[in-house]
Amino acid sequence: MAASVKFRVYRYRPEDGGKGFYREYEVPVKKGMTILDGLLYIKESLDPTLSIRYSCRMAICGSCGMRVNGIETLACHTQISELRRRVITVEPMKNFPVIKDLVTDMAVLFKKQRALLTWLIRRDLVEQENPTHQYIQSDEELERYLQFTYCIQCGLCYSACPVVSTFPDFYGPQPLMKMYRYFADSRDEGGKERIDLVDKFEGVWRCHFAGSCSMVCPKGVDPALAIQLLRRASLRG
Ligand code: SF4
Ligand code: FES
Repeated sequence: MAASVKFRVYRYRPEDGGKGFYREYEVPVKKGMTILDGLLYIKESLDPTLSIRYSCRMAICGSCGMRVNGIETLACHTQISELRRRVITVEPMKNFPVIKDLVTDMAVLFKKQRALLTWLIRRDLVEQENPTHQYIQSDEELERYLQFTYCIQCGLCYSACPVVSTFPDFYGPQPLMKMYRYFADSRDEGGKERIDLVDKFEGVWRCHFAGSCSMVCPKGVDPALAIQLLRRASLRG
């Protein structure tokens, strides 16, 4: 492993009139050091003006998503040594507005989730207020949506989606996947109401099935599969 690597970091300050630029930093490397550790070294020792977002440092909170050498990744989940590069380019996620440097505004993701009703829909409102029984599921029923519950809402799949890049009205992989998570839940009663929301051009039919969403997901979720399953449900009516 090299004693040091060069970080080439995208910098953007709104006060500069929308122009981004790259700045290079030499970062000493220790065993086990992650991209996030490298960025924190820069911030603490070389350039305190660098803005990054992170919290858990263990691939759980989903806040440190960025592009490293062109690939969407969690900065806390990627070790510098595994990249095997002398120069590491770090950029903010695509398909989200940049607030500052590597920090993006992810509001659009949550807005689209809300539009797709990403919560359990129930008709038995009286029972909901005064529960008298449990909603027991079989292993098979749980299996239908379990993998989709592992999403940490990091936005990497949304950034990697080539369709969102060219057609921002497309709901995108994460919101559609999250909708499917509830559609496939045996306790949900959204049914046709859900399908009507996605059975349209900006819904499931705009997906080109590039598969980049599923390739970059750090939690092994397969949003491309969820979109195909929603398509099947749309065709069944
Ligand atoms: S599906 Fe994966 S890549 Fe997309 S937001 Fe969820 S955890 Fe992140
Ligand atoms: S800091 Fe929480 S996922 Fe990276």
